[in-house]
Amino acid sequence: MAFSSSMVINVTFLMFVLLMGTSSAQLSTNFYFKTCPKLLSTVKSVVNSAVSKEKRMGASLLRLHFHDCFVNGCDGSILLDDTSSFKGEKTARPNNGSVRGYNVIDDIKSKVEKICPGIVSCADIVAIAARDSTVYLGGPSWDVKLGRRDSKTASLAKANSGVIPPPTSTLSNLIKRFKARGLSAKDMVTLSGSHTIGQARCTSFRNRIYNETNIDSSFAKTRRRSCPRATGSGDNNLAPLDLQTPTFFDNKYYKNLINQKGLLHSDQILHNGGSTDSLVEKYSTNAKTFYSDFAAAMIKMGDISPLTGSKGQIRKNCRKPN
Ligand code: HEM
Ligand SMILES: *[C@@H]1O[C@H](CO)[C@@H](O)[C@H](O)[C@H]1NC(C)=O
Ligand SMILES: *[C@@H]1O[C@H](CO)[C@@H](O)[C@H](O)[C@H]1NC(C)=O
Repeated sequence: MAFSSSMVINVTFLMFVLLMGTSSAQLSTNFYFKTCPKLLSTVKSVVNSAVSKEKRMGASLLRLHFHDCFVNGCDGSILLDDTSSFKGEKTARPNNGSVRGYNVIDDIKSKVEKICPGIVSCADIVAIAARDSTVYLGGPSWDVKLGRRDSKTASLAKANSGVIPPPTSTLSNLIKRFKARGLSAKDMVTLSGSHTIGQARCTSFRNRIYNETNIDSSFAKTRRRSCPRATGSGDNNLAPLDLQTPTFFDNKYYKNLINQKGLLHSDQILHNGGSTDSLVEKYSTNAKTFYSDFAAAMIKMGDISPLTGSKGQIRKNCRKPN
């Protein structure tokens, strides 16, 4: 098929317009190259030491970035503590008693402030920590785009509004919530592969293990042992999201789904006779494709509505505005 030169020009123009329209136009992988050359090695050493002490922390830091990005963009809003006059996102339903890693971010921030004071945002630290955690646990690497600034505020109402979809979601709700953040159904399935590491509380999967039929019966039986049927008893008991290798970032999550051993309703729904089955099947046999798609999708997630230029601020302390 032959392209006319005017078509080529039109396509070039269109791509230019699309790039200009992206709010992340100012993020770049070398943003702190001159202003904080030791940034990446500093973050990595704190992440590695935290995750070597407790493997789950790698999962927690990865999730922290997701929950930051889905509420008002990747702006560090999730890190703000409540005060007497301000309620932030930490006690929102998807976060309360569940999101962790705040102390590790504080630890990184204080080390970074020592070497380059007032330069590096908390939002960027979270993005780098998510990458380093993934790598430490055996997953793919990617170049993290940087230059995000920190919000001066947070939104409890937004965090509670369903923009972070609950584990009871239908497939169409999952797709819709990711689409609302500029991520495709494919990105959603790919990023759900994060559930190859980490833990969930009984309250997040109780209904699935007692009431659902698309679950392997011996798997359900095992999970019921440490997750009592009655609401209010054992709510915080933990189970691994990937029953096989919960501290290793691999593609076993997808193999579990094929065997009806997804822990969350929102996991199993990705392989339940619907439009995403084929991608789950592909990832279950092709770890390389999963890895490269995952890296690309993480970069895309990290691009969600960052504050750049003179918007926001570089917080001194990740827990409060300056
Ligand atoms: C597709 C929609 C998603 C839903 C409904 C969902 C839901 C959940 C739930 C309910 C938990 C357990 C929380 C608890 O019981 O305390 C969890 C854990 C986790 N999620 Fe997701 N998630 C989704 C997507 C993602 C994405 C996009 C990422 C990362 C890019 C991610 C990373 C994680 C990780 C790593 C954990 C384990 C955290 C830990 O052990 O501390 N999830 N998720
Ligand atoms: C958050 O969780 C704590 C216990 O982990 C609980 O006491 C508190 O009521 C919860 N807050 C909200 C707003 O759900
Ligand atoms: C199972 O489903 C029933 C009917 O919807 C509900 O009342 C019950 O609470 C569910 N059980 C669990 C353990 O979630």
